[in-house]
Amino acid sequence: MTVTVPVPRFVEALGQWQLRAGPRYLALAGATRRAITDGRLPAGARIPSERAIADALGVSRTTVTASYNALHEGGYLQRRRGAGSTVRLPDAAARGSWFALDDTGADIDLSLAALPAPAAQLADAFERAGSRAPALLGGHGYLLHGLPELRELLAARYRARGLETDADQILVTAGAQQALAMLFELLVRPLQPVLVEAASYPGALMLLRHQRARTAAIPLGAEGWDVDAFAHAAGTLRPGLAYLIPDYHNPTGLVMGEGQRLALAEAAAASGVPLVVDETFVDLRLHGPPPPRPLAAYDPSGETLTVGSLSKSLWGGLRIGWIRAQPHMIRRLAELRMRHDLSSPLLEQLVSAELLRDDAAMAAQRDRAREQRDALAAALRSQLPDVRFALAAGGLSLWLELPAPDSSDLAAAARRHEMIITPGPTFSPDGALERYLRLPFVLPGEVLAEAVGRLALCRGEAAAWQPQRDALVL
Ligand SMILES: Cc1ncc(COP(=O)(O)O)c(C=O)c1O
Repeated sequence: MTVTVPVPRFVEALGQWQLRAGPRYLALAGATRRAITDGRLPAGARIPSERAIADALGVSRTTVTASYNALHEGGYLQRRRGAGSTVRLPDAAARGSWFALDDTGADIDLSLAALPAPAAQLADAFERAGSRAPALLGGHGYLLHGLPELRELLAARYRARGLETDADQILVTAGAQQALAMLFELLVRPLQPVLVEAASYPGALMLLRHQRARTAAIPLGAEGWDVDAFAHAAGTLRPGLAYLIPDYHNPTGLVMGEGQRLALAEAAAASGVPLVVDETFVDLRLHGPPPPRPLAAYDPSGETLTVGSLSKSLWGGLRIGWIRAQPHMIRRLAELRMRHDLSSPLLEQLVSAELLRDDAAMAAQRDRAREQRDALAAALRSQLPDVRFALAAGGLSLWLELPAPDSSDLAAAARRHEMIITPGPTFSPDGALERYLRLPFVLPGEVLAEAVGRLALCRGEAAAWQPQRDALVL
């Protein structure tokens, strides 16, 4: 049965929409979208006709029509001829890509949490790799599993973190993204449930949508992962896998504690749910103790699939990632890989091996990230004091909790100020999280301070940031 929202309730849900800057139809659409995303206009409800709203608000019918059109295009309204318009939450495809496919022209781009290269160390590593390359040139250059030397270095890093690993358990990939794409392709069947965190990496969510998985969100709060909810979902939904980011989680920066790792790995093994653990940020510790041992070390079945990458701790341009798994899975993945490519570039693997021989390059990246994080935190505290955040102990971003659920409005306003930021819903499997915004500290401190200054301006424009705190989701 469809619920119809009465005109006075609709008008009340809009709040002080006239105070918003910009064209009136957009102000009206923005206020309506906000009422939809925070549940004041529930999904499935029929909203009043354009004529009724125009009369009630004292605006032209054209304004309301343009506003409804904008909402329809954004995926927030469903229209049926003769049946009026009903509220819906857009699917992620309608919300757009988080990854700019073309040059955006923005002068501050905070859409990606990725640092520039450690230039000096990279140049040295290229030189060393260049002098060693002739030894490789006599071969055909196709190494399906990766350069043996790099596989061994990566295996040794797991051993140093407390997880016994041999080189034949490593498959080198084109970044963590290819690793995730292969794992999801191998393990997820269409319409199968997949467990993800309530806020997660948009690139993984995109891949899961592509596999037509049905994502189920595990709550994530200041105390970390809701292990009971995980165990219940793992036991009842029969998910194809669970995708987790336990170390400096993207976007929240959280680290999963030892007890939660143990409980979660045991629950997954008991229900036979494969864990895909994304450790892309694990080497970016900025303060505090090191994270506990890899989640795979707590898995009694030994079948956890771990994904790693040099993109965040060194440089995305290397395109070096990997999967750690049992040899029988590495074999299946290598077969699948042949459908995509036949080898990762050898020279980049050699450079990566050189970079991994000591800690200098990663230490330089951590120092840079720490300094920039502190500059961003200072700018936020002075210019946006009512925004809440925890100082991330690692990773590359701060996860801001806004006083009101208007993160998409802010991102749209930021675009008008030549700045790209990613609103909370991009990280949500179901389009929620409007109260959150991710700011990566990947640019120099003065640029980040400028970004926060522009955000303060946007906030003035987005109007009505009334403090109204609902239950904390994250
Ligand atoms: C959690 C997470 N996993 C994987 C990736 C993809 O990384 P790569 O550049 O190694 O493909 C990213 C990139 O942002 C990420 O944040």
